[in-house]
Amino acid sequence: MCGIVGFVQQKNVADNFPLEVCLHGLKRLEYRGYDSAGVALAGSAGFATDAQLENTIAIPGFKTQVRKKAGRLDNLEEEIRQHPTLPASVAIAHTRWATHGKPNDINAHPHVSNDNRIALIHNGIIENANSLRDELESEGINFSSSTDTEVAAHLLRRELGRIEAESAAEAKYTCDLTEAMRRIAVLFSGTFTLLAIDALNPEVVVGARHDSPLVVGVGDGMNFLGSDVAAFIEYTNQAIALGQDQIVTITPESIDIIDFDGVPQIGEKFEVNWDAALASKGGYRTFMEKEIREEPRAIADTLLGRIDPSTKRLKLDEMNVDEETFAQNMRKIDKIIIVACGTASYAGFVTKYAIEHWCRIPVEVELAHEFRYRDPIVNAKSLVISISQSGETMDTIMAVRHAKEQGAQTISICNSQGAALPRESDATLYTHAGPEVAVASTKAFVAQITASYIIGLYLASIRGNMYNDEVQNVLDELDEIPEKVQMLVDQFDSITRLADYYSDVESVLFLGRHVGYPVALEGALKLKELAYIHAEGFAAGELKHGPIALIQEDLPVFVILPPLDRPELHSKVISNIQEVKARGARVFAIAEEGDTTAIEHADIVFKRPKCPSLLAPLLDVVPLQIFAYALATAKGLDVDQPRNLAKSVTVE
Ligand code: AGP
Repeated sequence: MCGIVGFVQQKNVADNFPLEVCLHGLKRLEYRGYDSAGVALAGSAGFATDAQLENTIAIPGFKTQVRKKAGRLDNLEEEIRQHPTLPASVAIAHTRWATHGKPNDINAHPHVSNDNRIALIHNGIIENANSLRDELESEGINFSSSTDTEVAAHLLRRELGRIEAESAAEAKYTCDLTEAMRRIAVLFSGTFTLLAIDALNPEVVVGARHDSPLVVGVGDGMNFLGSDVAAFIEYTNQAIALGQDQIVTITPESIDIIDFDGVPQIGEKFEVNWDAALASKGGYRTFMEKEIREEPRAIADTLLGRIDPSTKRLKLDEMNVDEETFAQNMRKIDKIIIVACGTASYAGFVTKYAIEHWCRIPVEVELAHEFRYRDPIVNAKSLVISISQSGETMDTIMAVRHAKEQGAQTISICNSQGAALPRESDATLYTHAGPEVAVASTKAFVAQITASYIIGLYLASIRGNMYNDEVQNVLDELDEIPEKVQMLVDQFDSITRLADYYSDVESVLFLGRHVGYPVALEGALKLKELAYIHAEGFAAGELKHGPIALIQEDLPVFVILPPLDRPELHSKVISNIQEVKARGARVFAIAEEGDTTAIEHADIVFKRPKCPSLLAPLLDVVPLQIFAYALATAKGLDVDQPRNLAKSVTVE
């Protein structure tokens, strides 16, 4: 969950640019974790000439410069103001979401070797760190922190020394940080992305990845590394995704990738379709407001270009298997399992109704962290669809791995290019929601539902459940959604004013039926994670089976009303409204324009434009997102970085 940045430029250009790149990168990555932050630089105390390097020893004075502080990035910037760094040519930087060791100055990254020659940062968890630490301490290594990362720093220095000793014995000098990184990477179990610099070789940054994210930014006479493209988005849009178990070595002029066996690899090049402006707040007060207002575009962009002009059929973004073979496999599946976490799981829950309606096969929705531990029935006739904004949620990745071990077909829905999940899946459909920086997922949620519908239509089409014109009809209805969502986003300020009256509320309930039920769950989650108050979503029909005991005077209850074209559902939910009203609740209804019954029974009605019931969640969720955002704002809370949360949960 941490944010990492690496940078290298020509060593005869040593200046403050590496520090600037790192601080800018950390600002863009701070949403990945913000317990502490730090930076390490090298190439400042002059340069190790070739003759000097012949001595194969750490030359006194050639040390990395490290600045690191607990708390937000501002604390690190103040530390650097008080203790300025010297010009440099290489740098690594890190913003942390603590897994091992409290968030304090000592445990902040980077961590250094005892002679300060090596500096290293880490994203993930090294599960066998304790045994490796014991081994190092028995060799006389002194530890200053309680982190698993410091173990990696000392191991890397030890391996570098062994390589130098071996090369000295062969009367040739090798300062091979790459080989040293390769040697330690194979020692670890767990998840890790590691970046390291060597003060004696200030023209190289080496990175290793296993399960945690790492992408390369390709520059001109300089190169970048980052946990995602936001780290270097304002310097380059040319990127290379690293695969599992790979080591990358960047110099100002080269990018070399090997696997953990030392075999050269070719990275997957891609052009980042996010500009720097998109990754910034764009003039809004918060990322979350910006991202809610981007929802119409996120849906529209996710729908773009989905029909192959030649075949007039839907196509997926990325196939890691032969397309025709994949299509044949899809015709054989007899069960679909959707695995995801949190908001992404509610997107999957919404999709269940649509895919079962279109494809007429059972769809199970599983919380990814529960899936593999319940010994699920999965085989080659199962299709496992994973949904993940970050593509790095470890619970979801591990669920997909388990499904693949059982022979399942896999499709991922992901918003982050170069992430792990697409590489683990047979096929991928990217949501084109752009960078979602706020921890609370909003535009990614509606984009995930949109992408899931596209997959549902793709399956219905290749399995013969729907004719192309029927698929096109639904796509045409989906094409009208962005404009309808915009009509709800335009209510942003009026919903915000309403929320001001409820800033002291202590509990809120959410009721929905059919596809409105997962929307109720998502509405409750938004309020919990943003306003830190009790909120609970229920299936409206469940009310009388217990939860109605919670209803009391003035208790706010949000009710998502089905469209008028579903009278059998609509009438039931109107009855639920009457039941809670009779017990003193204040009812906020989300209802279709023209729903006079809703107006008759509810205290407040958020009107939404008419649309097919299966697509209604794309509209219904918007007022709930805005209300949660507004309530948290009214309470003076940080809506972009809520307490205890991180944007991407890359540990199980
Ligand atoms: C949503 O508001 C939360 N931040 C959280 O539930 C999130 O949706 C979940 O952790 C899944 O993340 P992913 O989409 O990146 O896999």
